[in-house]
Amino acid sequence: MIKSLFFIFFLFLGLFAESLASFPKNIDKMVLVKESIIPAKDVVLPKETPLFLQETVAMYNWINNGKGTKLNIFVPPEKIEEYAQHGPYSDGITAVAIYEDQDIVFVTEHLSGEPLYGTYDRYGNDISNAHPSFNIKVCYECHRGYRDICKYGTCANSSIINIFNK
Ligand code: HEC
Repeated sequence: MIKSLFFIFFLFLGLFAESLASFPKNIDKMVLVKESIIPAKDVVLPKETPLFLQETVAMYNWINNGKGTKLNIFVPPEKIEEYAQHGPYSDGITAVAIYEDQDIVFVTEHLSGEPLYGTYDRYGNDISNAHPSFNIKVCYECHRGYRDICKYGTCANSSIINIFNK
């Protein structure tokens, strides 16, 4: 109950669309845990691609003018173990996903076990209002919606890249 109130509170904040997670100042000290991609807009994904990956690609393949982008995931060294176990997470920044070809920084932070999300450019400007798909309400919808895949607010597991490599 308390937890869901907490969540509603954050969702409420989210409607007014400021990044909740803070901007990570030390990305260069983080560990690259995954190199992923968002394929270009005109790429047809293999039929067996899980629905939630298809939705993720459809949501973000406009980035970099629809030409596709590398998506690298970084985790602070002190959180590597928690990330490897897929949570639960202690307080602080948990993971950063960077759309390398357009310098967009997605941040997941945790506070009292709850995930907070944020969207920034490389310089730390809050861009969560710059596009509907950057609104943190959207982050919650997907990261919360796929509970069997996204645990404790993080999603990386089966990779988009692995699907292409099969
Ligand atoms: C439609 C689904 C969807 C939406 C919307 C979405 N994500 Fe994600 N997110 C994913 C998936 C899938 C991955 C794993 C990508 C991979 O493994 O290649 C991921 C990974 C991440 C990661 C890397 C850490 C991890 O494992 O979860 C961060 C950070 C992240 N997302 C933040 C955000 C933020 C911030 C937003 C909102 C601006 C957002 N996401 C919106 C599906 C989504």
